[in-house]
Amino acid sequence: MNNLSISNNCWDTALYEDKHAFVWQYGEDLLKLLNPQAGESILDLGCGTGQLTEKIAQAGAEVMGFDYAPAMIEKARENYPHIRFDIADASSFRVDKPLDAVFSNAVLHWVKEADSAIASIHQALKPGGRFVAEFGGKGNVLAIATALENALKSISISAQDRNPWYFPSIGEYATLLEQQGFDVIYSTLFTRPTPLAEEEAGMANWIQMFASSFLTGLSDEQQIQVIRVVEEYLKPTLYQQGTWTADYRRIRIVAIKL
Ligand code: BEZ
Repeated sequence: MNNLSISNNCWDTALYEDKHAFVWQYGEDLLKLLNPQAGESILDLGCGTGQLTEKIAQAGAEVMGFDYAPAMIEKARENYPHIRFDIADASSFRVDKPLDAVFSNAVLHWVKEADSAIASIHQALKPGGRFVAEFGGKGNVLAIATALENALKSISISAQDRNPWYFPSIGEYATLLEQQGFDVIYSTLFTRPTPLAEEEAGMANWIQMFASSFLTGLSDEQQIQVIRVVEEYLKPTLYQQGTWTADYRRIRIVAIKL
């Protein structure tokens, strides 16, 4: 999962760690909201290659990391052999003992079955336990997704069912949480324009890493064509002084299990 993967189970972990470090670097802010305490039992749901899991461990918490992508778990184990990492699905995972907190950064927008993920998180927590999460919210990467859809249409390929993401509003997600027995004590939706690494290649790399379902089944030439059309379409708004920026909008939530 982390920032990842849920719908695409095959991640290039080297590319992820090398060019997309902003995923966990921005997530460090979310750790302040989690405020992990020594001795607490905490799950990092969608841990990716484990950087934030390790930060939680440094606070003295008993942390474990789950991710859907075997390649991410393999790399996380290699990076931090002292931490337990397991392959698990956010929409159906179970834990052995109820936890003090479930933490999740930049993952839950890959889980279209939000109800199932919330049910799993709820059953994983002790009463009074907290769920602290950040992920893409309503309007996230709207310009990029629209450009991809238009570029596919321009070569007569249907964009239907290619969008892998779930970007809810605060109202929608808070309602789902309340319906399943959470008290939502904090929520915010904010824009976070995110500069992409690799200068001119930044948007193409981002699309290949995170939006590959829009390119599935296309020939190499068609993929190149789609990316070129997307770049042309987005250049006036998302490319400045040699750097691409992704139009991220984040939702942050803290909810307590009743
Ligand atoms: C996000 O972190 O908001 C995100 C990442 C990849 C694809 C879509 C959204």
